Amino acid sequence: MTNFLTGALLRAALVAAAALACGGSMAQTQPQPLPTRGELLYNTHCIACHTTQMHWRNNRQATDLKGIETKVRRWQGVAGLAWSDADIMEVSRFLNITIYKYPQTGEILSRDVRR
Ligand code: HEC
Repeated sequence: MTNFLTGALLRAALVAAAALACGGSMAQTQPQPLPTRGELLYNTHCIACHTTQMHWRNNRQATDLKGIETKVRRWQGVAGLAWSDADIMEVSRFLNITIYKYPQTGEILSRDVRR
């Protein structure tokens, strides 16, 4: 009787383990693209306000890449984040790719940005 119970428990545990392993490997076959640094920074520090701002996309203030960068620099300052030029560049790029879609020019959003 004890042996039978132990066997049944063992089988149940094995089935559960197999199901787990299976689920795990299935999740791995559909890898999500890694978010960029700019996306991570923006989603962490900036998105909370903007999702409640209905008009910021329609009544946009940033009218070119330089404008985006100026705004990003201003807002990271407002939030007291002390981002580096590289961080500001990454987030500006992320916003341009996802929202503004302005043509990307060579010299813009470089590290050589005006303060
Ligand atoms: C406290 C709330 C708040 C936080 C935090 C915040 N923003 Fe904003 N943001 C606003 C509001 C409100 C506006 C629109 C009004 C304005 O610009 O004065 C705006 C406007 C902007 C714009 C210009 C949008 C346009 O009109 O084209 C950009 C770019 C921007 N924010 C980027 C950022 C970035 C990057 C961060 C994170 C470092 C950030 N914001 C954090 C509230 C916030």
